[in-house]
Amino acid sequence: MEIVAIVGSHRNGQNTQKALDHFISKIKVEHELFEYNVNKIDVQACIACDHCIPHQGECVIEDDMTEIYQKMETCDLLIVASPVYFSAFPSKIKALIDRTQMIYNLKDKTAIKKKKILIIGVGGAPYYPRQFQAVDNTLEWYKKTLSCDEIGFVQFSHTDELPALDNKKSLAELEAIADKINTPMAKK
Ligand SMILES: Cc1cc2nc3c(=O)[nH]c(=O)nc-3n(C[C@H](O)[C@H](O)[C@H](O)COP(=O)(O)O)c2cc1C
Repeated sequence: MEIVAIVGSHRNGQNTQKALDHFISKIKVEHELFEYNVNKIDVQACIACDHCIPHQGECVIEDDMTEIYQKMETCDLLIVASPVYFSAFPSKIKALIDRTQMIYNLKDKTAIKKKKILIIGVGGAPYYPRQFQAVDNTLEWYKKTLSCDEIGFVQFSHTDELPALDNKKSLAELEAIADKINTPMAKK
């Protein structure tokens, strides 16, 4: 199984990364992980040039999206793990999501594999009703574009006081999702 994980925190090794690592550590089926941390990749903002409409599958910007496009299209499990900044996606991961417009503009999407998607949301404040609403809204078209079936949206609120690895409830939710992935269909 090929897993692509996109990590949207502007800090390395903090709550978002730890929550993701915890989930990955529970995946027991054979897998290959391609992790894209927004701090370690070069992904520029979409310039809305519409080049990808007449030139199907092409983006004029030459950066790490060339590889990420291909991986997002053909993986089996996509993970978007991100904090919220001002109740929305931080700017770097939003740029990556916006660049998916190239795939959205494809007239023939048959090369895009049907896949599962797991969303991990992290917020420093105690839970409030719209804490992850913008993330959910943004991902609506991202999921459709990449042919994703959502298997969970696990939220880690109040990380300012409760570090992700101390949030037993959310960790248990991640573990339950990993268990489902680990259980072959035949045994269900
Ligand atoms: C610019 C900025 C804006 C933030 N805005 C919010 C917010 O609107 N709501 C919230 O719950 N937390 C907010 N936070 C807190 C982060 O979501 C929190 O610190 C989270 O743990 C960051 O992820 P990380 O630990 O992986 O870096 C903000 C943090 C920053 C730096």
